[in-house]
Amino acid sequence: MKSIWELHRGNSLNVLGLMSGTSMDGLDICLAKVNRSGSEIEARIEHYASYSYPIDYRERLLQLPVANTAEICRMNFDIARKYGDFIQWFLDKFQLSADDFQLIGSHGQTVWHIHRNSTLQIGEASVLAERFNVPVVSDFRVRDVAAGGSGAPLVPFIDYLLFKKYQKNLLVLNIGGIANFTLVPYNAISVNDIYALDTGPGNSLIDIAVQLASKGELTYDKDGEIAKKGQVRRDVLKYLLDHPYIKAPLPKSTGREVFGKDFVTEVIRRFNIADNDYPDLITTVTRFTAESIFFNYRQFFEKRYPLDEIIVSGGGADNPVLISYLAELFENVPVNRTDKYGVGSEEKEAFAFAVLAAVSVWGVAGNVPKVTGADHPVVLGKITF
Ligand SMILES: Nc1ncnc2c1ncn2[C@@H]1O[C@H](COP(=O)(O)OP(=O)(O)O)[C@@H](O)[C@H]1O
Ligand SMILES: [Mg+2]
Repeated sequence: MKSIWELHRGNSLNVLGLMSGTSMDGLDICLAKVNRSGSEIEARIEHYASYSYPIDYRERLLQLPVANTAEICRMNFDIARKYGDFIQWFLDKFQLSADDFQLIGSHGQTVWHIHRNSTLQIGEASVLAERFNVPVVSDFRVRDVAAGGSGAPLVPFIDYLLFKKYQKNLLVLNIGGIANFTLVPYNAISVNDIYALDTGPGNSLIDIAVQLASKGELTYDKDGEIAKKGQVRRDVLKYLLDHPYIKAPLPKSTGREVFGKDFVTEVIRRFNIADNDYPDLITTVTRFTAESIFFNYRQFFEKRYPLDEIIVSGGGADNPVLISYLAELFENVPVNRTDKYGVGSEEKEAFAFAVLAAVSVWGVAGNVPKVTGADHPVVLGKITF
């Protein structure tokens, strides 16, 4: 194992990036090569794979927000052990060994997130350091929160790195459990020239509505098949769009605490949604997801930044109904996947945490204070030796 000081002094790092987002569907793993030359950072993905959680793990993850302290304590280690198994599968798949990477960047699983107050990710980094004998950077969000920010979103740093060179007004949109976008203006010359925010729900409401409708048999609306069959309920959509988060000023970030099961249950109660109305509910929350993305662009950026292109990543990019709503709302703006730019739409977030880990080891700040609301730039994460 190289010492952290050697890694700190080096200019090239092979990093495993691990991401498990708010959808809690699985772990995304990538191997990235990250280089620096002066203050310039350059990175590329070497390998990527995704591993679904077994059903019992997914259920435990979904229960985390209401779990007791003993379960959170257990899960902090159990989920890291599961990450370890997935990493081993990843290494076997690509015939890699522990010598092929010098660092792990692990986002961990968010248990709870309170905007500009606190945030909690679990997945004990020590378990990974012990098993693979490499330093692990984890807990990326908390230092930004300590500096007065919300610790989110953090991917904009990478969006800037990947997309500044195209010199277009780009809306770089990720639709995970929560949706967020980075607006990269055509004339951005520093990371301080971008804007980014969580727009509201990504797939979270769709997934929950599908789970409730199918009594737990289905976990998501594969290819938008259910949403295709329903109708948008205008009364419900109006209620959803009145949610204070949608109109809230910048900076802003959110999570499943706001757009989670309680919210969907309240909508079902308030509008007396019966079992056979569920397709309409699923269509309506799909529409709401698209409209909340559009509304946030319109209220903050439309006048100053007419868009050249929308670049989509995350599981929501695979939902054709959601994408067709976005294309309709953004009218003449082309909607493409990040794949067009050489980053698979499922890969970007794991890649981001690989790059952020390298940047942290080099002592470079990875937050964008304008985006998170932090008082100043900070080096993110904690290193487990
Ligand atoms: N073929 C598909 N059709 C519709 N939705 C999909 C499809 N594939 C993935 N998704 C959605 O994407 C979600 C996972 O997205 P992901 O980007 O992994 O989110 P997170 O970063 O929160 O884990 C799934 O829960 C599901 O809602
Ligand atoms: Mg996922």
